[in-house]
Amino acid sequence: MVSTTADPGGSPPDEGGAQPAQRSTWSLPAGHTMPENYKLLRDGIFQEVPRTDRQGNPVEAKFVRVSYGPLAVVRKYASADGEQWFDVAWHDGRRTVVRRVSGATLRGGVKLVRELGSIGIPLFEGNAGKAEQYLAAYLVTNAEVIEDNVVKLARYLGWQSDGTFVSSDGAPCPVEVAHVEQEPILSAYRPAGTLKQWQASIAPVERYPTVRIALAAAFAPALFAPLRLRSCAVDISGRSTRGKSTAAAVGLSVWANPSEEFQAWGTWKSGMIGIEKRLNLMRGLPVVLDETRVVKHADLVDQVLYQVPMDHGTARGGNYTSASMLPWNTLVLSTGEQPALSFTSHEGAAARVISLRRPPFGREGERSAADAEGVRLAILTTYGTAGPAFAARLIEMLAEQDGLEQLRKRHDVLADEHSGAAGNDVARRRSRHVAAIHLATQLAHEWGIVPFGALETADWTELLSEEEAREDRGAMALEVVRALIASQGHRVQPLSTGKIGAAAGALTMTPPGGWIGAHVEDRNGQPAVALLPGDLDRALSANRPPIVLDAVKEAWTEAGTIAMDPKRPKSLDRAYISGKRVRAFIFTSATLDGPDDEEQSGQSDQDATDPRTQQEALPAPSAHPEQPALDNGWGSGTIGEDVNS
Ligand SMILES: Nc1ncnc2c1ncn2[C@@H]1O[C@H](COP(=O)(O)OP(=O)(O)OP(=O)(O)O)[C@@H](O)[C@H]1O
Ligand SMILES: [Mg+2]
Repeated sequence: MVSTTADPGGSPPDEGGAQPAQRSTWSLPAGHTMPENYKLLRDGIFQEVPRTDRQGNPVEAKFVRVSYGPLAVVRKYASADGEQWFDVAWHDGRRTVVRRVSGATLRGGVKLVRELGSIGIPLFEGNAGKAEQYLAAYLVTNAEVIEDNVVKLARYLGWQSDGTFVSSDGAPCPVEVAHVEQEPILSAYRPAGTLKQWQASIAPVERYPTVRIALAAAFAPALFAPLRLRSCAVDISGRSTRGKSTAAAVGLSVWANPSEEFQAWGTWKSGMIGIEKRLNLMRGLPVVLDETRVVKHADLVDQVLYQVPMDHGTARGGNYTSASMLPWNTLVLSTGEQPALSFTSHEGAAARVISLRRPPFGREGERSAADAEGVRLAILTTYGTAGPAFAARLIEMLAEQDGLEQLRKRHDVLADEHSGAAGNDVARRRSRHVAAIHLATQLAHEWGIVPFGALETADWTELLSEEEAREDRGAMALEVVRALIASQGHRVQPLSTGKIGAAAGALTMTPPGGWIGAHVEDRNGQPAVALLPGDLDRALSANRPPIVLDAVKEAWTEAGTIAMDPKRPKSLDRAYISGKRVRAFIFTSATLDGPDDEEQSGQSDQDATDPRTQQEALPAPSAHPEQPALDNGWGSGTIGEDVNS
């Protein structure tokens, strides 16, 4: 692997340039000597091979060419795992060139020539073997001085095993990534401008709570290791041009160049391995994955959300062992029109996604647009200063006596607050991560890094409550569905008769009021019940408080409660009811049974057709009123309109 390191270290070979036309004299790094029997001559390094005449008397030695110019190993690097790299230096006409290569490259002459030939290493494949021997001899001759000056090298950003925090290549130590795909990502991690300039550029964000959370979320993963937290995701969803990507860029600017032209900016377009490698670069810094809409397969979002909190990637064999079980510790900052949670049915994943659905830059039209645009442009020139400052202060804090304990205590207090305020179990499970983000923003303010303080716990609760409302609403509405099937079971067509129309025989005699649905098998062959939207809508509207089907459909889609058309994920799947293939709300029996609620279990045909429950009739279709305007935060209207507008 080739680095762009320019500093040869030690005492650099002559930089030249004083007399540009002439080759300047080369000198080895301080304390280095040429190995025995090697000579640096005007036009290269030669090996002196002793010779004798026929009588065995020494004669003038033969000089065998090793290189076409000076060549030295100026520095050794070692990772925590003992992997080695070396800086190789040579003289290219007027200047010294230094490149970092792996131990394997240094020790493989041909490999070295191939890797560095194009940038002028004074070797040819023909003398690669000689070069290999020379460099080996060089390492032996200068072992002591080289070993005394070994430089530690990181393989990823963030927390290292010795407690240092690497925020970019060279700060504080060089980084040699494990996968080539990580190189362009790494190179976007560097500071530009001053912390003061960055603070000024993000100042307008103070008015926008969702953006403040995205910003806080960028600092938080640095706290995960000391707080013993695994990775999580923060998802910003909603309508286009409301500042979702800008909010993510504000977060990214804490550590890196947030421009979409640079690779720190990740999108959902990558494949699974690409995303895992991106995550794998981080042990305490965030990863941005922008716009779920561009994902190649919807499954991928589900897979990633499932994998992120595991703190390591998928196990892979064959040609992909180098990308197997890649570790990480990060916070994924995701954006998309559709909530990321709408792609997943894993409950475990849902508990690790903190979902924000408000327009990040608000609904103030011109003002919102101007603020978003202003911040977006400002952070293109000033970035990468706040994160390193935060990490430095965090290390100071952790070095204090009781520092770690204090940090954990503060986190516990916040976690208790958030847990107490959480409206349901899933939200409670998120509270330790929410608390870490909250704590990060408190610390960032106390340490003078972010110009404004943390939001109040109540504000967090309110911002996060939209998700809870959905979670609860979905569960509540499911109760209504269960009650409907229990009371109107005789109006649900038995299995395999749904394809038969109304005119068919006794078995499918249409009940009074008509069929409201049918027992079917879902696409996985699981027993399920398909209900007609109209009848379901009436049942939900008749509930007290009334539930708007449109709104709950979204919650159900996100939770995987209902089956969606695989080709049109926003549309209901189809089923045969009364002889027609129609879009319907399809609930598997397993979903209807619920996890462990005895009363709801066993919604079998028998229960459903229990004559005692058949008496309760649905409200007559004619009695269906206009959907009332609800004051439950859901409003009415089409899916998504209420939350995303
Ligand atoms: N809340 C807002 N209200 C009005 N205009 C906004 C708002 N937020 C951002 N904009 C405008 O939209 C531009 C693009 O913002 P951004 O890319 O962050 O939006 P987005 O929500 O990610 O949209 P998309 O779904 O298209 O990716 C901004 O530069 C600004 O001009
Ligand atoms: Mg966007």
